[in-house]
Amino acid sequence: METKATWYTNGKSKNVKVLVCKDYETLSKKAAGILAGIISVKPDAILGLATGSSPVGTYQELIRLYEAGILDFSQVKTYNLDEYYPLEATNDQSYHYFMNTNLFDHVNIDKNNVHVPDGNAADMNEACTSYEAMLDEIGGVDIQLLGIGGNGHIGFNEPTDTFVGPTHVVELTESTIQANSRFFEKIEDVPTKAISMGIGSIMKAKKILLVANGEGKAKAIADTLEGPITPQVPASILQLHHDVTIIIDEAAAANLKEYHA
Ligand code: F6R
Repeated sequence: METKATWYTNGKSKNVKVLVCKDYETLSKKAAGILAGIISVKPDAILGLATGSSPVGTYQELIRLYEAGILDFSQVKTYNLDEYYPLEATNDQSYHYFMNTNLFDHVNIDKNNVHVPDGNAADMNEACTSYEAMLDEIGGVDIQLLGIGGNGHIGFNEPTDTFVGPTHVVELTESTIQANSRFFEKIEDVPTKAISMGIGSIMKAKKILLVANGEGKAKAIADTLEGPITPQVPASILQLHHDVTIIIDEAAAANLKEYHA
């Protein structure tokens, strides 16, 4: 079977739908299909977007749908999860640059409708407050696309003792710096801080769509779905959101007890 669906519940409602796909391509097409569906019914949809390797295939499929004349981004608005700090948007290692090269430059989105946290603001506290105010003003994004770190982080909300609500400046953990160093020439070049939507900002989304692939994500996915809700596994908070879809491949599903039961 190409894809198997399982529901995970928080005891009250069937709030987390898990789709296990045979490979990354299938997973990416499924995720793009959900985003495309939302844009089709709501041309001015507000998308929360993520960077990293996980959503690249999703973005490629969205570009394909745009090129095929199936999708129109002219009224779509986007809000990205995070950005390195300090880093200028034009720096080729910035998340803003990543979004341009992996999606925005290839579709008819109005760049005035694109929002990425400012990783180079003179006043970072103000940058955090105004980003959060924008999210409040729109009443939360229609759908938030997420990847997940091997340590269970979402956005740059790293494992810690308390969930942090709003957009804030974070110190990256050693494991995240190591993981992200693959995109840099040398590890010393990886910024040690970032500006990130907080857990509260992410939970404001009307829908959440998380994509993950590969065995490196298997533990984080199992902890997210089958473990306790704890800030030590930031993604575990998704158990409390009312509308979550998690699309993964077989390798990322490897540690799920309920799925394999
Ligand atoms: C990126 C982000 C991060 C990544 C996560 C997984 O905007 O917020 O949480 O989603 O680090 O990264 P990849 O997909 O590269 O494994």
